[in-house]
Amino acid sequence: MPAYGIIGAQWGDEGKGKVVDFLSERADFVVRFSGGNNAGHTVINDKGEFALHLVPAGIFWPHCTSVIGPGVVVDPGALLEEIDALESRGVDTSGLVISDHAHVVMPYHVKLDQLEEQARGENAIGTTGRGIGPAYVDKTARAGIRIGDLLDAPYLRERLTSVVAAKNLVLTKVYEADPIDLEALYNQCLEYGTKLQRYVTNVEQRVSDALDRGERVVLEGAQGALLDLDHGTYPFVTSSSVSIGGACTGLGIPPQRIESIIGIFKAYSTRVGAGPMATELNNATGEHIREVAQEYGATTGRARRVGWFDGVAAAHSRAINGFTSAVLTRLDVLDGMPSVQICVAYEVDGKRYDRFPSLPGLLARATPVLEEMSGWIIPTAGVTDLDQLPKEARAYVDRIQEIIGCPIDLISTGPKRHESITVRPIVPDAPEA
Ligand code: IMP
Repeated sequence: MPAYGIIGAQWGDEGKGKVVDFLSERADFVVRFSGGNNAGHTVINDKGEFALHLVPAGIFWPHCTSVIGPGVVVDPGALLEEIDALESRGVDTSGLVISDHAHVVMPYHVKLDQLEEQARGENAIGTTGRGIGPAYVDKTARAGIRIGDLLDAPYLRERLTSVVAAKNLVLTKVYEADPIDLEALYNQCLEYGTKLQRYVTNVEQRVSDALDRGERVVLEGAQGALLDLDHGTYPFVTSSSVSIGGACTGLGIPPQRIESIIGIFKAYSTRVGAGPMATELNNATGEHIREVAQEYGATTGRARRVGWFDGVAAAHSRAINGFTSAVLTRLDVLDGMPSVQICVAYEVDGKRYDRFPSLPGLLARATPVLEEMSGWIIPTAGVTDLDQLPKEARAYVDRIQEIIGCPIDLISTGPKRHESITVRPIVPDAPEA
């Protein structure tokens, strides 16, 4: 019966790839339910280092079925490239399945994403430029093309003919850009359909049947709760529901199927793109953390903004997701710092806010109320036993646990699979057959 939700609890890039890979060992299915190739999930294993964008991180475990669910938006060219790259490095991708209901990111979506960002000027969101927003716009406007449509030539032609006519009006009249060539796009879509056909199926039924059989399903979140379309720092968010509710709608499973909801928190904060970030460190400390952690985007290569752990945002994230447990990643990055700080409240216009303010203007003006704690000299890098953590690092973890209000069950102390402290197994052992 159980499904386990893995949710980015901050602004993405918390290290979900490693955690999903780690948990996949005990799972039968690993499912992406939202976002697209704006995501970049890094996995390091015995085959090397991989940056996954669309393919679920379960792909490295041959016993796992890796599912791209209906709530995902799929750029077929990017997906085929990713599959080829994995295969060329000896990763078997035959366990991949793609929902016929997943929407297609078309070349005009990518073009519009870039044109819209340019037009926003200094109010640009800092999107990944992968066409994600425009693809979700079309889905909501009922003007989308779905993966299943790529397998049905007459239907595809009919849909594309009307959609491309509308897109070309926008491209040429609003942005004075070149129009899309319908015939070329149609042929490219048919080619994508032929190449992807073997993976495409009704995944909702497969996952539902697997849950009925008592198999274990890991729901692999993308981005982070503070980028959630409804609950994040709007308008500086992504265009999908990345929180746990999005797992239910983006896959088609009822909430009571989900046994645990695991929030992935980084030991400090990072953010890519524009938008409020109260604990941002625009100084040598931020630079130090960025360089030690190599905080550069796995998708765009952009330098990530860095800041102290934001307890106010973390508590908001816990509230909207109902985390039953948490994973704390990249603790080792803070090794050797004389002191570390945690944001416990915001101050806006002289007033203290203990809860996440909902108005964007307040958020933008928020300054952090920081609590200082001792750093630690003895490194935590590679530690696998809780008792081996220096007492200052343990105190830091305990304080974060207190703030987020749920147990930290796993602490990641390095990028490799085994560099983790299991406080309590998140996915229990399978019952004896
Ligand atoms: P979009 O999802 O490309 O439309 O970008 C919207 C915002 O979400 C931008 O600030 C991006 O930098 C951010 N974003 C999207 N995907 C990720 C991710 O996987 N990690 C971190 N930030 C992301």
